[in-house]
Amino acid sequence: LSLPANCSALNLPLETSRLVLRSFQEGDFEDTYILCSHPDICRYIRPPMTREQVVTHIADRMQPWTFEEEKWYSLTVKRKGASRVIGEVVFRLESIADRRAEIGYRFHPDAQGKGYALEANKALVALLFRVLDLHKLVAYCHSVNAASRRLLTRLGFTEEGCKRDHMFSEGKWLDLTLYGLINKSDEGLSREMIVSIDS
Ligand SMILES: CC(C)(COP(=O)(O)OP(=O)(O)OC[C@H]1O[C@@H](n2cnc3c(N)ncnc32)[C@H](O)[C@@H]1OP(=O)(O)O)[C@@H](O)C(=O)NCCC(=O)NCCS
Repeated sequence: LSLPANCSALNLPLETSRLVLRSFQEGDFEDTYILCSHPDICRYIRPPMTREQVVTHIADRMQPWTFEEEKWYSLTVKRKGASRVIGEVVFRLESIADRRAEIGYRFHPDAQGKGYALEANKALVALLFRVLDLHKLVAYCHSVNAASRRLLTRLGFTEEGCKRDHMFSEGKWLDLTLYGLINKSDEGLSREMIVSIDS
């Protein structure tokens, strides 16, 4: 897999019919703080962040993309013509050799139920499959997170298993459902690809 040296080759920002997906900018702090601290948004991701943690989070997300394994890369989501960040979509390369990445997302409650998460994630999936040439995407979703499960199903992901009592949150043990999406247009590893991974 030959990944670009940085994100300048990715043709960002991405545009969909209603949205623009771009890298973080300094002015995104207040909206991002809400996204990273609102209890309803954070419930199934990680504990709400403090303002100081969000400063570090944004500084980290503003770093140039180097396509290292295990590092999260993210795009803010805004409505076309608006400056407010309504959501964030993210990915991390789980294995470059296996051309596999994990995706994640969070949207402000007032931007939910409008199909924006679906629209933004379709653009992310297209970027990861068509531009980065990945073979498989995965997502890990709390089994009780019905909105996220519906979204993954609408994106074409299928369930691949369940980790029972995997997390302890708000006084309860929660199961985690594993989801996967295979790049259908990928013919599998060609001989050239095996050579380029080995070398
Ligand atoms: C998971 C999450 C992103 C899903 O957001 P969402 O807005 O429900 O997802 P979608 O963009 O697919 O919108 C779907 C809904 O919009 C409705 N909708 C309205 N207009 C629409 C349009 N033009 N196109 C598509 N759907 C539309 C659909 O009917 C659907 O409603 P339903 O889910 O009640 O059937 C959101 O719940 C969230 O941010 N949660 C908190 C963070 C989180 O849990 N992240 C995941 C961790 S694994």
